[in-house]
Amino acid sequence: MTDKVIALVTGANKGLGKEVARQLGKRGMRVYVGSRDQMRGEATVAELVADDLDAHLLPLDVTSDESVTAAADILAEHEGYLDVLVNNAGILAARPAFEIDAADMSRTYETNVFGVVRMIHTMLPLLRRSQQPRIVNIASTTASLTLASDPTTMFGREDTIVAYASSKAAVTMLTVQYGNAFRRSADHAHFKINTATPGYIATDLNNFSGNRTVEEGATIVVDLATLPDDGPSGGYFNDAGVVPW
Ligand SMILES: NC(=O)c1ccc[n+]([C@@H]2O[C@H](COP(=O)([O-])OP(=O)(O)OC[C@H]3O[C@@H](n4cnc5c(N)ncnc54)[C@H](OP(=O)(O)O)[C@@H]3O)[C@@H](O)[C@H]2O)c1
Repeated sequence: MTDKVIALVTGANKGLGKEVARQLGKRGMRVYVGSRDQMRGEATVAELVADDLDAHLLPLDVTSDESVTAAADILAEHEGYLDVLVNNAGILAARPAFEIDAADMSRTYETNVFGVVRMIHTMLPLLRRSQQPRIVNIASTTASLTLASDPTTMFGREDTIVAYASSKAAVTMLTVQYGNAFRRSADHAHFKINTATPGYIATDLNNFSGNRTVEEGATIVVDLATLPDDGPSGGYFNDAGVVPW
């Protein structure tokens, strides 16, 4: 076991996850780059290592029990604990509301919701061995019920995000529920779990239409991943502060 802060970012081979991995690495953490694609993951790790960061590839498909268990086994063998878990892997399959069917919902929830639960459940034994466990779940501002129910906002006018926005709202509720459970348990009271939304960032997810950079989007994620002991838990934040539920 080392004294290093050990972080794992899911879906870190590109986009927001890659930038979060880079920023955590710059803070001196050993970063595991979760990637379901070996070659894309290797390319990202090579890029981070070239920047003198302590980055390692961790093959990881959040929809697979087998893959997530294998990733936990690798971390257990090499590190023995995990300090920071960033549940970043996510998909968006845009489709008009009246065309959405249960299969679309299932595909989206398998990654965006069940993937988060699979990760937390499987990584919990490693997180329990950390002095300062921090979990950051990446949701989206589309998950805000307040904004989505206001037709004057862009979130209230969007017609193609039934599956995505509802999956991300499930993530904010998961965060609250886990936060409550950690708080109630003496053995877990030192855990911090929060939801981050990066804002509309330019990535593959939106064909690079976002008006913010991944560097800007990663800021709140890194802040929540490095919270002090008196920091919040169970909350929903962007880089401007608290996001309305
Ligand atoms: N872009 C935005 O404006 C925006 C706004 C709010 C929230 N977010 C959230 O930010 C997170 C990152 O998205 P992004 O914008 O950076 O999109 P992105 O560039 O498409 O990156 C998504 C990442 O998730 C990975 N991934 C997808 N399914 C996976 C699975 N089953 N197992 C492991 N990894 C998987 C992808 O891997 P592959 O390369 O193998 O596909 C990729 O590395 C997502 O949760 C997204 O919902 C994005």
